[in-house]
Amino acid sequence: MENFDFWCGTRIIFGRGTEKQAGEAVSMYGKTALLHYGGGSIKKWGLYDRVIKSLNEAGVKTVELGGVRPNPTYELIYEGIKLCREHSVDLILAVGGGSVIDSAKGIAVGAPYEGDVLDFTLKKAVAKEALPVGAILTLPAAGSESSQYAVATHEVDGYPYKRDVVWENFHLIRPKFAILNPELTCTLPPFQTACGICDIMAHVMERYFTSVKNVELTDRLSEAVLKTVINNGRVVMKEPENYDARAEIMWAGSVAHNDLLGTGRQPDFASHMIEHEISGIYDIAHGAGLAIIFPAWMKHVYKNNLDRFVQFAVRVWNVDHNFYSPEQTALEGIEKYEKFLKEIGLPTRLSEENIPADRFEEMAEKAMKPGSIKKMTAKDIVEIFKLAS
Ligand code: NZQ
Ligand code: ZN
Repeated sequence: MENFDFWCGTRIIFGRGTEKQAGEAVSMYGKTALLHYGGGSIKKWGLYDRVIKSLNEAGVKTVELGGVRPNPTYELIYEGIKLCREHSVDLILAVGGGSVIDSAKGIAVGAPYEGDVLDFTLKKAVAKEALPVGAILTLPAAGSESSQYAVATHEVDGYPYKRDVVWENFHLIRPKFAILNPELTCTLPPFQTACGICDIMAHVMERYFTSVKNVELTDRLSEAVLKTVINNGRVVMKEPENYDARAEIMWAGSVAHNDLLGTGRQPDFASHMIEHEISGIYDIAHGAGLAIIFPAWMKHVYKNNLDRFVQFAVRVWNVDHNFYSPEQTALEGIEKYEKFLKEIGLPTRLSEENIPADRFEEMAEKAMKPGSIKKMTAKDIVEIFKLAS
């Protein structure tokens, strides 16, 4: 196990009706909030009204900025920064999924900074301060509600770079609180639910697939989260209003990406970095992109750490350990994983999303290239795209 410095400072307020506590949670940070949300789903089912009521009761004044679109860009971040300055906003309250929360995080680091917020993603400056962010989560997937990451897309010479909003001082953007009411997720369409399941599993697996040895506790915790998401994922796909199953998935989504499961180990994160090129250019759902890339990445790298892929197959997918052919066991695990993704209705090939081969080299060249199981090269990434075709 490697040394680590783990600090997850997000207060989690979990359960039925918890959005009513929004006013109390916000007022700990001041009296003016920027209410940030997406394309309107929060208004359709009454969440918006309940949040406004709670904020009013707590004496919190609100400024509003809706319209965040999936795979967020910087236009709205700039608007939010302007509003925060004009109205001396004390906290940004993000109500929605990962895209809304990430946009809120961009606003949070941009508002107190005199220069261009893009300086942080372009590595021209390091963020030193940020407005506090609070989240009311409506889609368990990205884990942004308690993660120290945010992703947004900016263009340079016509290429859409989907990149981290900050590369240092990550702790600045970790939300101060996250309100998690599983009831709010019952309105999710099946495809979004499935994308969320895939993303949550991917956050665990990016950390599970490490080359660091002797990390048994985090291995076992990760396997528990994966099994919980698989079991309850199957339930919510059939029974979208099953509160208990929705609750398991929602809590798993935060645990998967608050870095607890990354303690003492080097994560891989190659699949995520490759996927960001896909959703950056073709604007597909991040979870769907991962369903295409992750199995292909596995097929490309499993021989680099066969033992770990055997462990994944046996412990997560209940594959019989074939001691005469560990390779066979590992491949069976990958096959079961891919089958599960199909079962919940996700694409597992680029062609299913009409993504052609013409930009493979370009995307491979531009993509970030991390890797613990295998440090990626552009050549590896092209091979992965071919396996995903
Ligand atoms: O815009 P609205 O109207 O809210 O509709 C959204 C959106 O169309 C809808 N939705 C959300 N909650 C709903 C609902 N529809 C019905 N009922 C509800 N309860 O779902 C659609 C997708 O929302 P979005 O926020 O884009 O999805 P998700 O939460 O998957 O976030 C994806 C973004 O997060 C990034 C992804 O790359 C992508 O840009 N990620 C952020 C991470 C982080 N900050 O730590 C880590 C992840 O790996 C990921 O990269
Ligand atoms: Zn993800």
